[in-house]
Amino acid sequence: MRIDVVSIFPDYLAPLGLSLVGKARAAGLVDLRVHDLRAWAVDRHHTVDDTPTGGGAGMVMRPDVWGTALDELVTDTTHLLIPTPSGATFTQRTAEALAAAPHLVIACGRYEGIDARVAAHYRTRIQVTEVSIGDYVLGGGEAAALVMVEAVTRLLPGVIGNPESLVEESHGADGLLEYPVFTRPVTWAGLDVPAVLTSGHHGKITRWRRDEALTRTSARRPDLIEALDAATVDRGDLALL
Ligand code: ADE
Repeated sequence: MRIDVVSIFPDYLAPLGLSLVGKARAAGLVDLRVHDLRAWAVDRHHTVDDTPTGGGAGMVMRPDVWGTALDELVTDTTHLLIPTPSGATFTQRTAEALAAAPHLVIACGRYEGIDARVAAHYRTRIQVTEVSIGDYVLGGGEAAALVMVEAVTRLLPGVIGNPESLVEESHGADGLLEYPVFTRPVTWAGLDVPAVLTSGHHGKITRWRRDEALTRTSARRPDLIEALDAATVDRGDLALL
């Protein structure tokens, strides 16, 4: 997969050279490039913004500068992502869908956002999604780009050594938050690892983990319990629901 990120703060994306994403890049599993939007600005001051038409506070990013940049980067198969708090919520399902795309371009806006004609124009040519990573307002799209690149990259084939780790995790196929996890030592700070986990009884461990996932999800995310697919609920679950 190829990913291009465009920002006026390319240094903000430096963490994409580290850890999971950095390793995936080094292994050639993702071709990720970060670009400075100002490289496409035409005036002496490399201006990328202007005042909002119709009045109001702040500045808006110019469509012409973004247009020149995006014309150079997008192809017919590109999925253009525009992070914005007014976008559709980015979820694990979004990450899964994007992981199947051959090419992502992430256009990071700052200030009051990017002139709306940019999304409208590219929507006539390619897939465009305005996407929010949550109901809060960030200073720009860069932190959202970091989040999305990591969520998508870890799903690419070969990135996570043991693909089993993608099966039992929060927001996976069962629709539940993940159960609590433990390691050695068996006793720490006066707290014991739950005895069932050292029992060696796999059936009981599976049931215990499922119960913990259900209890935790009910307490923290009742909305996920409401949305559970009836086909994934078993008889043992019903006592807890
Ligand atoms: N830009 C500012 N806030 C944002 C958010 N919550 N999600 C995505 N991009 C943003």
